[in-house]
Amino acid sequence: MAERKTNEIEVSVCLGPDCSTRGSEKLLVYLQNSFHDTEGITIAGRSCLNRCGEGPNVLVEKGSEQRGEIYTGVGRKFFGIPTGLRISDFIKFILLERLS
Ligand code: FES
Repeated sequence: MAERKTNEIEVSVCLGPDCSTRGSEKLLVYLQNSFHDTEGITIAGRSCLNRCGEGPNVLVEKGSEQRGEIYTGVGRKFFGIPTGLRISDFIKFILLERLS
């Protein structure tokens, strides 16, 4: 894996079985479409993050950080689950992180 530059962000959507049943594949496509022309932000799928009951889960890593932060319940409202982080708020957070 190539080393990330200081302000580069890697967003990894969990595609494990529990997150998949909560819409993580659709979330991955939505985020890929949202950031397709945004330099310095990479969106990809990944294996289970071991927070299965809280999904869809997303790992966000920035710069040379060895450990990123896991965001749980991303987009649940979009997929009809009443609680969780709104996709629009997650996207705003990623863009703000990119600028900081
Ligand atoms: S299936 Fe997503 S955290 Fe395990």
